[in-house]
Amino acid sequence: MRFIQSTLLLACWLPVSSFAFLASGIPTRALDATQLQMSLQTKKPGTAKLDVPWGELGFEFRPTNSHVRVTYKEGEGWGKPEMVKEPYIQLHIGATALHYGQACFEGLKAFCHEDGTVNIFRPDENAKRMQASCDRIRMAKMPTDLFIDAVKAVVNDNIEYVPPYGSGGALYIRPILFGSGPRIGLQPADEYTFVCLVIPVGDYYKGGLASPVKGLLITDFDRAAPRGVGAAKVAGNYAADLLPNMLSKKQGFPIGLYLDAKTQTKIEEFSTSNFVGIKHATNSYVTPKSPSVLPSITNKALMQLAEEEGMKVEQRDIDIEELDEFDEVLAVGTAVVVTPVGSITRLDGDDIKQYKFGEGEIGPVTRKLYDKVRAIQNGEVEDKYGWNVKL
Ligand code: COI
Repeated sequence: MRFIQSTLLLACWLPVSSFAFLASGIPTRALDATQLQMSLQTKKPGTAKLDVPWGELGFEFRPTNSHVRVTYKEGEGWGKPEMVKEPYIQLHIGATALHYGQACFEGLKAFCHEDGTVNIFRPDENAKRMQASCDRIRMAKMPTDLFIDAVKAVVNDNIEYVPPYGSGGALYIRPILFGSGPRIGLQPADEYTFVCLVIPVGDYYKGGLASPVKGLLITDFDRAAPRGVGAAKVAGNYAADLLPNMLSKKQGFPIGLYLDAKTQTKIEEFSTSNFVGIKHATNSYVTPKSPSVLPSITNKALMQLAEEEGMKVEQRDIDIEELDEFDEVLAVGTAVVVTPVGSITRLDGDDIKQYKFGEGEIGPVTRKLYDKVRAIQNGEVEDKYGWNVKL
C-alpha cells in the first residue's frame, strides 16, 4: 500500500511522461496540488523506523523502500526509469559485468536542511564521472538529465530515510551501471542496466572526526597501473583493494595508502578516498596529480574552499618522503567526507617507520575544511557555487 502511495507522489514530482512503475504495475497519474501537499505531509525526512538512532548510523547496508532501475538496449537507447521494491536483480548468466567486470558505480549524498528540504550534493558531477567511467570500459553513457531524474526519484521515494537535520547523517546514493547483456567473446555488452539504491549513513570510519584514523602504507600491492583504469570508478578497482584492505585492517590499520605502481615512490590515494596533505608554514593544500587517481568530487569542492580560505592549492606529484613535512593528512571522498588521518605506518619486515600528524586529534585546517563543506551541504551557509540540488 505504502509503495503505491509513494509512486503516485513520485509521478507528480517528476516529469510524468518519463517514468514507469514496475513494482506497483499501476498507471501513473498526476496529483493535484492538494493531493500532493497531503502526500508530502505523510513523508518526511527522518521518520523511518531504523534499528539504531539516527546519530549512530555507520556505513552499512540497510534496507529502504525501493531502488530505481533503467535499462539501455542497443538500437533502442535508454528506457524509462522504474521504481523497484525488491532489492534483487534477475541477471543473464552471460552478462559482461559477471565475466569481464564491465561495471562502474558512483557515490553521492542527500542532506536534510533545517527547513526540512532535501538537497543532493553535486549530482551533475557524478553523472559526468560515471560517463567518463563508461567511456573507459566501453559502456553506454547515461545522459546527465536522466541520471539526475533517476537519482531524484529514488531519493524522493525513500525520503523518510534521509537522516534528519542535525543528526550528522546523510542519505548515501549509490548508482551502479553494468553490462547486463550476454557476451562470451571479449567485447562490450549490447544491454546495460542502471540501478540506484539509497542507504542512510553516518561516519565511514568508526569514531568519525573525534578519532583520527590509522593508515598503513601498502607496499605489497598496487591499486592501479599508470595507464590502467585507476581514474575510472570501475568495480574492479575496488575488488583489487579487498585483499590489501583486509590485511591492513587485520594489522590494526583501517585505511590503506597506495603508492604509484611504476616507481613505488609517489603517493596515489587511499583505498576508499583521495589523499590531501596540509602544511601550516606555507598554508598549503597538497593533493596528488596522477592519471591513475580517481577524481574525487569532494576533493574538487575542498580545493575550491581551500582557495577561498587563501590557501595555496597544489595538485602535483607527492614523494613518499614528503609525508614527513605534512602537519595534517586528510582522507577525502563522498563516503569518508573529510576524515583526519592520525598516522601512516610503513612496515618493511622489522623496519617500522611511522609518520604522525596532529596530536591524536583533528587538526585545525582539517576542522575548518570539514566545517565549511558540511555547512554548505547542511544548508547553513550560502551555497554560492550552486552545489546543492533541491529535490
Ligand atoms: C564513495 O566515497 O562514495 C565511494 O564510493 C567509496 C567507497 C569505498 C565507499
